[in-house]
Amino acid sequence: MSITPHDERFMAAAIRLSRAHLGRTGSNPSVGCLIVKDGVIVGQAVTALGGRPHAEPQALAEAGERARGATAYVTLEPCSHHGKTPPCAEALIAYGVARVVISVTDPDPRVSGGGISMLRDAGIEVDAGVLEADGRRALAAYLTRQTKNRPYVTLKLAVSADGMIGRQGQGQVAITGPEARAEVQALRAETDAILVGIGTAISDDPLLTVRTPGLEAQSPIRIVLDPSLALPLTSKLVATARDVPVIVVASEDVSPLGSEEGAPPSVLPDYRGRATGLDPSFVPPTRGEIGKGHPPNSQPDSSSSGTKNVGQGAISQPISPLVGEMPGRAEGGNAPADANDIGSRRAALEAAGVEIVYCNPYHPEVLLPALATRGISSLLVEGGAKTAKLFLEAGLVDRIQLYQAPIVIGEGGIESPIQTTDIPSGFAHRGTHMFGADRLDEYEREN
Ligand SMILES: NC(=O)c1ccc[n+]([C@@H]2O[C@H](COP(=O)([O-])OP(=O)(O)OC[C@H]3O[C@@H](n4cnc5c(N)ncnc54)[C@H](OP(=O)(O)O)[C@@H]3O)[C@@H](O)[C@H]2O)c1
Repeated sequence: MSITPHDERFMAAAIRLSRAHLGRTGSNPSVGCLIVKDGVIVGQAVTALGGRPHAEPQALAEAGERARGATAYVTLEPCSHHGKTPPCAEALIAYGVARVVISVTDPDPRVSGGGISMLRDAGIEVDAGVLEADGRRALAAYLTRQTKNRPYVTLKLAVSADGMIGRQGQGQVAITGPEARAEVQALRAETDAILVGIGTAISDDPLLTVRTPGLEAQSPIRIVLDPSLALPLTSKLVATARDVPVIVVASEDVSPLGSEEGAPPSVLPDYRGRATGLDPSFVPPTRGEIGKGHPPNSQPDSSSSGTKNVGQGAISQPISPLVGEMPGRAEGGNAPADANDIGSRRAALEAAGVEIVYCNPYHPEVLLPALATRGISSLLVEGGAKTAKLFLEAGLVDRIQLYQAPIVIGEGGIESPIQTTDIPSGFAHRGTHMFGADRLDEYEREN
């Protein structure tokens, strides 16, 4: 059967539905499924919070007997392997659907093509690749972790009319208006983790949570690149670390194991304290295996604190402390002076519920796979200038969101590392949206 405009309409609805649980299905993808009989939707579902049950069995259960002879629209190829749940392809067969329309085939080697073959072997008609570009965009986080063994990285920056992202020594400067800020909150809510540099953590003292009423529980894990444990103990991040996880990525030099002691290479325990080596052959947890790691948007196990070295051998670059009074900045951000000071700072951070991992913060090509092993599929880099540049130069940004606001920063401004006029090659402009007086331009890596 050829693809009809009806197919595209129902698939568009399934993709919209799939977005409802983005960032809330653990390491499983958020998949949408519609069961359509005689042009009427008789069942619909999105992957449940936490990643199970999958969308298909829920939609089939809603359709019941009406699923017999119906068409199922699924944004991702139904799974064909026995994980924590039976294969979704088996459920579609058991309910007697006549046709399955798929947007994206699953790159997971245990599924890839297997779900389609299982359905076809049972006599079900299968059409794949319907609205595939849109489907891929909705599944970008899962697909990136599966195929690149790292999270999908979005860089978001707010830039003033004169090309600045802040003002030296002034802490947080409001650049965008309330509409744009609400949109950023929505983006945070669908993202597994959010990352800033220590410069921003100290000068802005940000919370980095989701504060939209009703979405508070969807705050991402907060990550700070902080080579020498300079994150102030009085900061909002530390103060709230027991409510929303905070990971500090510190240099191996400040690890209690010390770099010369021969810490095991590339080891980063996951949230349950188990070591998950960065073996290049590592296959990240996938659909049906959500229980392998702790759901990203949740509190780490208290037993997981301790010493975790990742990517040993990366060059450490301790940063200089930021000193002086800045409006809004957290106090106590001075870098530790000696080993004892580092030890006590480390202990205080851990006692406050902060997790410290030891991995050169300025080697994102090492850090990102480590985050992927923990089930983190999407990462939002929110600055500052140097951190944004670091990820751009490493070629590890998949999407750029640039907000341009009419305000002028003027003297003392911190220049944005990127403007709409110098977007790196390889990115395609995906659209412009207005939020109040602010303009958002979105760019996506093309490969
Ligand atoms: N408008 C926005 O969207 C937005 C978003 C976030 C932050 N901001 C603003 O950005 C400003 C902070 O930016 P920032 O660039 O100073 O700080 P940052 O990117 O948050 O943190 C960078 C810090 O890490 C250190 N560092 C050393 N080597 C590095 C490397 N290879 N890559 C990255 N960082 C390295 C830097 O130390 P050295 O200084 O010693 O090099 C610097 O202290 C604040 O004013 C904040 O308000 C704006």
